[in-house]
Amino acid sequence: MCGIFGYIGDKEKEVALMANRALCELEYRGYDSWGIAAEVSGKMFAIKAIGKISLASDKELKGVMGKMSIGHSRWATHGGVTEANAHPHFNTSRTIAVIHNGIVENHEEIRSFLRGKLGNSVDKLFLSETDTEVIPHLIDYYITHEGKTFEAAFVEAGRMLEGRYAVVVMKLGEPYLLAMRDGSPLVVGKGEHEYFLASDVPAFIDHTRQVLYPGDREYMKVSADAIMLRNLDTGKKVDREWITVTWDKGSATKEGYPHFMLKEIMEQPLSLDKAIHQEDAKLEEFARLMKESEHLFFIGCGTAAKMAKLGELYAARVAGKLTNAYVGSEFAAYGQFLNKRSTIVAVSQSGETADVLEGLRVAEKEGARILALLNVVGSSIDRMSKKSLFLNAGPEIAVASTKAATAQIAVLILIAHALAKKLPEGKHLMRSAVKDIKAWLIPDLSRDIKKIAEKLLNNPSSALLRGPTNSSPYQNTPPSLVFPRRAPETSSAISLQQYPLRDIYIIGRGLNAPVAQEAAIKIQEVSYIHAEGFPGGELKHGPIALIEKGTPVIALIPNDETKRDMESNTMELRSRGAYVIGIAPDNSKLFDEWIQVPNLGLASPIASIIPIQLLAYHLAVLRGNDPDKPRNLAKSVTVK
Ligand code: AGP
Repeated sequence: MCGIFGYIGDKEKEVALMANRALCELEYRGYDSWGIAAEVSGKMFAIKAIGKISLASDKELKGVMGKMSIGHSRWATHGGVTEANAHPHFNTSRTIAVIHNGIVENHEEIRSFLRGKLGNSVDKLFLSETDTEVIPHLIDYYITHEGKTFEAAFVEAGRMLEGRYAVVVMKLGEPYLLAMRDGSPLVVGKGEHEYFLASDVPAFIDHTRQVLYPGDREYMKVSADAIMLRNLDTGKKVDREWITVTWDKGSATKEGYPHFMLKEIMEQPLSLDKAIHQEDAKLEEFARLMKESEHLFFIGCGTAAKMAKLGELYAARVAGKLTNAYVGSEFAAYGQFLNKRSTIVAVSQSGETADVLEGLRVAEKEGARILALLNVVGSSIDRMSKKSLFLNAGPEIAVASTKAATAQIAVLILIAHALAKKLPEGKHLMRSAVKDIKAWLIPDLSRDIKKIAEKLLNNPSSALLRGPTNSSPYQNTPPSLVFPRRAPETSSAISLQQYPLRDIYIIGRGLNAPVAQEAAIKIQEVSYIHAEGFPGGELKHGPIALIEKGTPVIALIPNDETKRDMESNTMELRSRGAYVIGIAPDNSKLFDEWIQVPNLGLASPIASIIPIQLLAYHLAVLRGNDPDKPRNLAKSVTVK
C-alpha cells in the first residue's frame, strides 16, 4: 500500500533527500510511483516519478534545503500509474501539498460539493484521476472562500472525509505540518527539535526511537518543537504515550542476504526462539479471556487466515475447545451470531489489514471481545483489542510472510496449551522444536532446495518423467491403499514429453491441510506459478483430474496420524504420473524428491512450510522475479 513520510525541524536540512531515504525504507509496502514536496526558500519544491524510488537520481534531490518535507510512495487504487496521479497533490496555486494513504470513499460527493460552491469550472482544477486530489482543493476552498485558518480548514475538510486515511499536509508559509488518520497507519517520531511522521517506524528509525501512535480520528499539529493531538470530531486535546522502539535497524536490513525474503526465512530459528519467549502470565490471561466466552472465532487474511485455521485446529486438538476460523473479508456474515459472550482472536502480522479491521468493527458493534496475535505493537488492530500477544519476530519486510507465519504457529501452539492448562508441556515442545529447527535450517538446506527448483524449471523430460522402470508403485502396495483399484499405466506408456511448469499442487492432512494452502500462497505470490493446496482427502473429489504426467505435487507427510492416508493419496497421484516431492521426516519410495524435515510432532506445520518458503524463493529468483516486492502485491493491505 502507500507509504507516507513527513518531516519538520528547526534547522535547514537536505529535506528532499531525507524524504527519499525514508520512502526507500517503506518500499516493502509496495508501490508503483512516488513523489516529494518541500518548502524551499518560501517556494514549493516538488518531484514525482513512476517506478523505483531507489533509482531516483540524488542529483535532483541533493541541495534541496528546507525545514519541512513530505514524501509518498503510491500503490494505485483510483487512477492508473502516472506521474499526474502520484502524490503529493496540490491546490491550484500550489501552496498546499497533500499526501494520503487510504481511500476517500466520498470523493465524488466532495467534488459535487465544490462544484455547488464554485461552479462547474472546478472540474478543470483537477489534474489527476485520484480520490486524494479533492483534499487540497477542499482545504483551499475553506481558506480562500470561507476565511478559515489553515488548521480550521484542515479540520473541516477532515470531518468531511469518509473512508480510510492517513493524511499529511503542508502549506507554504505555515511553520507546521498537519496530519490525521482514520483506519490507515501513521506513526510519529520525536527527535531533537524535529518530528517525523510516517506509515511505519523504519522510515525514521535512523533518527529517533521515540514513537507515538495516534488513534483513529485524531489529528496532529506538528512544529519543530511541539506536537498537539486532538480529536478530529470534538476538537478535544488527546494525550498519548511515547514508546521507545527496541528492535535494531539491523533487523530491518538485509544483513548480507540478496533479498529480505531469504534473510527472513533463514532467521527463523531466532524469530521462533523470540516468539516462544512469552510470559506465562500473559498467555494464561489471554487463554482465560478466550475460555470465558461462549463463542470463539479466529480471523485473518491470506497467510494469517491459514494460521488462524491452525489456531482452530490446535484449540480443538490440544484443549478440546471448539472455535471457528474465518477469512477477515467474509466475517461480516457471522455478525448476527456475535454478542458480549463472543471473542474474536485476530491473527495479523501488520495489524493493519483492512479486511481484518472490517471484521473486527462488526464484532465491536455487537459488543464482542477482541483479542489479537500481532507482530506490530501499536498497530490499528492492537489498539482495538482488549489484549494483544506479540510475535516478537522483528520487522518483516518481504511481502511474503515467512517468519511471522511460523511465529504465529508457535504462539498458537502455546495459546492452545494455555487453554488446556498445559503450558509447561507446550513450552517444552516448542523449545525442543526450535532446537531441532536450528540444527536443520542451514544454508545446505537452501542449496538443496534450489537444485529442486532448478530441476522443476529446466524441466527436462528426464527429470520430471520417470524413465522406463518396472518398479511400479503398485507392486508392493496392498490394494486397500490404492485409489482407484486398477492397474497403473505402465511406465513404458509415459512418453518423453515435457511438462512445461504450469502448476504445482500441494497436499496435506490434519494440521498440514492449512499448511498446504499456505504453501500455495507462497509459491503463487513470488514465483507467479499457478499453485494450489488442498487436503489430501479432497484429491479424489476433483483435483486429481488435473494431474498429468510430470505434474509436480508436494506431499506433506509428517509422522502423525495422517501419515498412512497421506501415503495413500501420494500413491494415487504417483500412479497418474505426478512428480512427487515429499516433505517428511522419513524417505519413501513414493518420492521422486525427498526434503527431509525434523520430526516436530504438533509443530510439524513449521517444518512443512519452511522448505516451501525456500522453494518459492528460489523459483522466484530463478525466474527473474523480485521476491521481496512481487507484482500487484503490497505488504500491508490497507484497502478493502
Ligand atoms: C503473505 O505471504 C501475504 N503477503 C498475505 O497473504 C498476508 O499474509 C495478508 O495480507 C495478511 O497480512 P497481515 O498478516 O499483515 O494481516
